[in-house]
Amino acid sequence: MKILGIETSCDETAAAVVEDGRRLLSNVVASSVDLHAVYGGVVPEIAARSHIESILPVIDEALKTAFQGRALEMAEMWSNIDAIAVTRGPGLSGSLLIGVLTARTLAIAKNKPLYAVNHVEAHVYATFITEKAKSLKLKAISLNNKQPEFPILALIVSGGHSQLVLFKNHFDYKILGQTADDAVGEAFDKVAKILGLPYPGGPSVSQAAKEGNPNALLLPKARMQNGYDYSFSGLKTAVLRAAQQMVGKDFTFPSSALPAVLNASQKANLAASFQHTAIQTLVDGLKAASEEFEPKSIVIAGGVAANRELRTQADKLTPKPIYTDIKLCTDNAAMIAANAYYQASNKQPVADPYSLEIDPGLQM
Ligand code: KG4
Ligand code: ZN
Repeated sequence: MKILGIETSCDETAAAVVEDGRRLLSNVVASSVDLHAVYGGVVPEIAARSHIESILPVIDEALKTAFQGRALEMAEMWSNIDAIAVTRGPGLSGSLLIGVLTARTLAIAKNKPLYAVNHVEAHVYATFITEKAKSLKLKAISLNNKQPEFPILALIVSGGHSQLVLFKNHFDYKILGQTADDAVGEAFDKVAKILGLPYPGGPSVSQAAKEGNPNALLLPKARMQNGYDYSFSGLKTAVLRAAQQMVGKDFTFPSSALPAVLNASQKANLAASFQHTAIQTLVDGLKAASEEFEPKSIVIAGGVAANRELRTQADKLTPKPIYTDIKLCTDNAAMIAANAYYQASNKQPVADPYSLEIDPGLQM
């Protein structure tokens, strides 16, 4: 079964074709991140406008890459697609609308079943992709060769979410913990802003951290009533206070003026200490949950799963966590198509594609 996935929940316009929930035939991502970088965060109107411009070319390319060896006409390519899957939430309304309206229209026009996907849940399904077509465009993607096994303990960490979830089976799961305030990726983005590092903050903070001492500062780890919940907003504020102190100022000193007065070694120490504490908080929760629930597999998914320090610290856990290629950790449509394949074996498609609505606040 070949499913065309469509993802537009934030600033990436993505389309991909995945066969049987495990074999990657194409993965196309057009990001508008460069347009947002000057603002230090995603601007919803710009993201939505970029989706409108990119969505049809991105879908065309996903189909052409998937069937390239076979020199097919567009109509023939479509006849090889068995279903369409689209992210319905959570995400930015304007962004989600473009993907969902496109998917609805295509499902009706091409007469294909349509599956609606929860973006956060789908991040875990990126690790179910274990094979790829021998296409040049997929050459740079390296996959784990074994799918995770249930029960799966999943840490889903991205710009919008920090969740610890126990999956008994497909679509049968329990949220063990989540963030009370900022998502961990969001904390990286905010710390980057304090240090004057480029957006998105994950890669730039971890790059700066390489030159710093992770033990330079003792930063607080939030303790929550539910032991598996997280909080990252206090940690971000602690970084701000430490930065103000380093330059001999008090809490009234504006954060926007810090990048100009902090030197490179202070920035590196702040980045390294923040990263160390944030990652340790995540790994502590993961360790406690894996001891309590004894999962067969641990999966770490979402944009922050790209973080080296996270991988180094989490690799000490048993079982050793499963990650996927960085290209499938950050937002992509292959994970949407993979999730829909397992829906197709468990549930009915959307009864009337015309009636599928976006759900920006969709929970797991
Ligand atoms: O999953 P994703 O692409 O989008 C959301 O669903 O949010 O995740 C993006 C987030 C951003 O906050 C970004 O700063 C973070 O993932 N990120 C990282 C790294 N690469 C991306 N965080 C820490 N370390 C990284 N290497
Ligand atoms: Zn995401």
